[in-house]
Amino acid sequence: MQAVINYLKTNQARFINELCDYVRFPSVSAQPQHARDLMACAKWVEAQCENIGLETRICPTKGHPVVVAKTPRRGSQKRKHFVVYGHYDVQPPEPFELWKSPPFEPRIQGHSLFGRGACDNKGQNLAHLKAVEAYFKTSTQLPCDLTFVIEGEEEVGSSSLSTFLKEHREELKCDAIVISDTGMPSPEHPALTYALRGIAAFEITLHGPSRDLHSGIFGGTVDNPAMALCQLIGKLRDKNGRVAIPGFYDDVAPLSAYERKQAASMPFSVAAYQKLLGVPKLFGEKGYTPLEQRASRPTVEINGLTSGYQGEGSKTIVPAWARVKITTRLVPNQKPEKIMTLVTRYLKSQCPPTVRMEIQAGHGAEPYIVSPASAQAQAALRAIKAAFKREPILMREGGSIPIVNQFKNILRADSLLIGLALPDDNAHSPNEKFDLNCFEKGQLMSAHLWQELGKLP
Ligand code: BES
Ligand code: MN
Repeated sequence: MQAVINYLKTNQARFINELCDYVRFPSVSAQPQHARDLMACAKWVEAQCENIGLETRICPTKGHPVVVAKTPRRGSQKRKHFVVYGHYDVQPPEPFELWKSPPFEPRIQGHSLFGRGACDNKGQNLAHLKAVEAYFKTSTQLPCDLTFVIEGEEEVGSSSLSTFLKEHREELKCDAIVISDTGMPSPEHPALTYALRGIAAFEITLHGPSRDLHSGIFGGTVDNPAMALCQLIGKLRDKNGRVAIPGFYDDVAPLSAYERKQAASMPFSVAAYQKLLGVPKLFGEKGYTPLEQRASRPTVEINGLTSGYQGEGSKTIVPAWARVKITTRLVPNQKPEKIMTLVTRYLKSQCPPTVRMEIQAGHGAEPYIVSPASAQAQAALRAIKAAFKREPILMREGGSIPIVNQFKNILRADSLLIGLALPDDNAHSPNEKFDLNCFEKGQLMSAHLWQELGKLP
């Protein structure tokens, strides 16, 4: 192991350069014009894996390709097998004007590497690849078999990977999935995540007049779709921060006393949190702490809202249509399909007859929760501690990784979620960054993890 650790230490500068190369691909899965960039990025990942010494292939799908890379299997002896999951696709970089340097021109400042995808998820999955590289290049025996699965559709719901899992069930059969695509409260508090929220996405369009109308000539005689939409979506949440859709909370699993105590013991300051987010005051469901609200309680959020004239100056019109993009975050035991049915029924019942409503359901993912008491989770905690030299904490996270439930349902395998992102890494925001100390500690953690998992009976 010392050779592995030394190798990681002496090769950091090159690893950082390679992460810069990785971040240079504008692999934005939500935007069709980037399809070629996703392919090019997948090829770069493939070349990385091959150089490391993994048996690698690019698997085309209906959407963006999946890169599969395996450690060479030795003889016929049955060894433990772990799948390491990551994604090379990134969120849209817009709004560009808020970036201090262009999103796909990586910039290093202090110990941070700025660029879209630096932390979510390129830096995090590269950390695992580098750990394996260190084993191979120092001829250190890896105590288990690994299969890397790095996909290009995580940020849009992972639908192709879900099909891929069904088709490659045998090949991907494993003892657990290892994923670094979550966060930790601070570098002093590395963490193992044992729950993620699910998601249900949809778009509502309200159609009014057949074209934009002069608001002076016609305003007052027809409904304004933008106004109607605001009134409609205003009914999705009440003033206590609760989702107002009838039946929405029916299946929500209550928080146990143990979990509430655990959440209360996490390092957290309302003032610092408020400052980090730049809000004048926090808002959330009454009766729950901010940490509970963001990880263990369901919500509804408007992600985008469009209607009418958005250019400079004024244009006096009644817009022909208005559209909103919404996601709900779900907790155990809510099901995305049932939530979509409830949402549709409620919105239809509340929509005025003066506009025509169109609802389009988007991606969905189930919430995930696993016991942090398993031998594997304990092994992961030991690896985290060995790398970060700090006592790791257990936490739930509010984000979603759509494929995690498919891993459970299709492969029957649990996921070890070992996040390397910091709260101020700006995932999905302008000026995303990855902390290069987290990058290095992540590589170390991965190196230790294979030892710890390999030792389990
Ligand atoms: N890495 C995130 C998920 C995440 C972040 C989990 C922080 C926990 C803490 C992932 O890349 C992501 O952003 N997922 C999307 C999925 C969605 C678009 C289907 C999300 O959560 O919005
Ligand atoms: Mn993301």
